[in-house]
Amino acid sequence: MARKKIVAGNWKMNKSPSEAVALVNELKPLVANQEVDVVFCVPSIDIIPALEAAKGSNIEIGAQNLYFEESGAYTGEISATMLTDVGVKYVVIGHSERREYFAETDETVNKKVLKAIEHGITPIVCCGETLTQREQGITIDLIRQQIKIAYQNVSADQAKTTVIAYEPIWAIGTGKTATSDQAQEVCAAIRTCIREVYGAAVADEIRIQYGGSVNDSNAAELFAKGDIDGGLVGGASLKADFGKIVNYK
Ligand code: PGA
Repeated sequence: MARKKIVAGNWKMNKSPSEAVALVNELKPLVANQEVDVVFCVPSIDIIPALEAAKGSNIEIGAQNLYFEESGAYTGEISATMLTDVGVKYVVIGHSERREYFAETDETVNKKVLKAIEHGITPIVCCGETLTQREQGITIDLIRQQIKIAYQNVSADQAKTTVIAYEPIWAIGTGKTATSDQAQEVCAAIRTCIREVYGAAVADEIRIQYGGSVNDSNAAELFAKGDIDGGLVGGASLKADFGKIVNYK
């Protein structure tokens, strides 16, 4: 089946609310491509102004994190209900930076994925290996483990609506993109893992992105691969180039 591509910008900790509005307004006409789902995953404080600025466009606004509890004494955290209340449709879960700097584990990723799904938010579930792990030859085993734990207690019907982002850590923010063959190999292995757990229908439907130094000159080759359904884009999502990535064809 033909899966609709999804290109998401991960702004990370960049852009103040006023800068966010300016960037949404700048990019709005450049990403107006109905053939691709376009998502801007912005800092929490930018969500509301970005939603306002994106109104009437094809841009969906996403968050970069949520907490897995409903509400309560969790200083500094943001809940799924808060996100849905303002119209957030996507949330990045388990980005490698959150795993590295904020102690996220496969288990907390699983809890967050379940919470997002419970509230009707599409999780963009991140996985990826370090350079050492790749050199040790354990990339596929590791990714399969990350995915299997992230999807514990997620039903087949729920799983097929989610998005997975394969992001080799050595390729993030380094300008060192995985080759399209390397990216395809792992994305195909992820789809195989999903097929084993959930069956062929879910594996055919679930969308798998590649992330890690995606830019306007490598997007077309990456997104042409059979198991790569778009990208999660960091640095290049903060400039006009993002429009070229969305219009990669
Ligand atoms: P990058 O980041 O495109 O700047 O490498 C990707 C990501 O971390 O999602």
